[in-house]
Amino acid sequence: IGRIAPDGRLNGRVKYEVTENLFAQMNAQLTNEPGYSQGMFNLDYKGKDFRTQCQVGNNGFYGGNYIQSVTKNLSLGTEGFWLQQQRKSGVGFLARYDTKNMVATGQIASTGLVSLSYVQKVSNKGFPCY
Ligand SMILES: *[C@@H]1O[C@H](CO)[C@@H](O)[C@H](O)[C@H]1NC(C)=O
Repeated sequence: IGRIAPDGRLNGRVKYEVTENLFAQMNAQLTNEPGYSQGMFNLDYKGKDFRTQCQVGNNGFYGGNYIQSVTKNLSLGTEGFWLQQQRKSGVGFLARYDTKNMVATGQIASTGLVSLSYVQKVSNKGFPCY
């Protein structure tokens, strides 16, 4: 998939199913302003009860995450990243609880991020998908 904006920016995305469980994805945004072009490569693996992802971006971005189903309704995850140029890194933890009618998530990271979310289904139509 590719798109060129009127100002000359080019967005492109390539998604490739390597196997039934392994996906590769590349996203790129190219501009003619120096330093604003971005590229990101993702590798996703979906196991029976876990999901993991590796990310490599231009400008020395490396990241990864891992989410494991603990029970039918509860998943726990962890993520980390490393920014080579800024010599910054971070780790985070995520919990997600879902039932037929609601999804609750909590997230905390060494960057200072703390986030809680709760989504309750109110009708059979229009339940948000993540
Ligand atoms: C787990 O989720 C299922 C549906 O996804 C729901 O029927 C069940 O009540 C949930 N269990 C608990 C303990 O919330």
